[in-house]
Amino acid sequence: MNETPLVGILMGSDNDYEIMKETAIALKQFGIPFEMTVSSAHRTPERTATFVRGAKERGIKVLIAGAGAAAHLAGVIAAETTLPVIAVPIDATALNGMDALLAMVQMPAGIPVATMAIGKAGARNAGIFTAQMLAVDDAELSEKLVQFKAEMAAGVEAKAAALDKRLAEDFS
Ligand code: RP5
Repeated sequence: MNETPLVGILMGSDNDYEIMKETAIALKQFGIPFEMTVSSAHRTPERTATFVRGAKERGIKVLIAGAGAAAHLAGVIAAETTLPVIAVPIDATALNGMDALLAMVQMPAGIPVATMAIGKAGARNAGIFTAQMLAVDDAELSEKLVQFKAEMAAGVEAKAAALDKRLAEDFS
């Protein structure tokens, strides 16, 4: 994206991309510019720290970390910044993401990270939640979110109407 990024997305491995792509899709949907890279808390601690330490100066408002296994990425990021950090646990091991979820959600007092659901739903919600935070002082973005919720509600109404029709056909 050409505009100055407002959001920094980090993932622990390029293998996390298929999940974290959902965050990028949600941010794009709301017109929020972002930067995205691979950086591991364990394999490249210096790269991670450098990325995060420079984030505020680059204009970043929110950081999002996607990681699997012993997922320390969000916590390590939060240790380096006062920007809000959102965590997305990824299903990357035999524990199906429970390992990453517990590592992310059980941050000790003083170093919060906002942990989303495991996998694609969590990644998508990370983007939407970011939009909601940025919309606090952005009326245009706030209106986009109102529209988004209205469209979701209309989708449910349409599904309920379709089910009513089906029930009438099948059971009356
Ligand atoms: C984590 O370990 C990454 O976020 C990834 O989900 C997991 C496995 O990494 P790879 O071995 O697939 O690179 O750090």
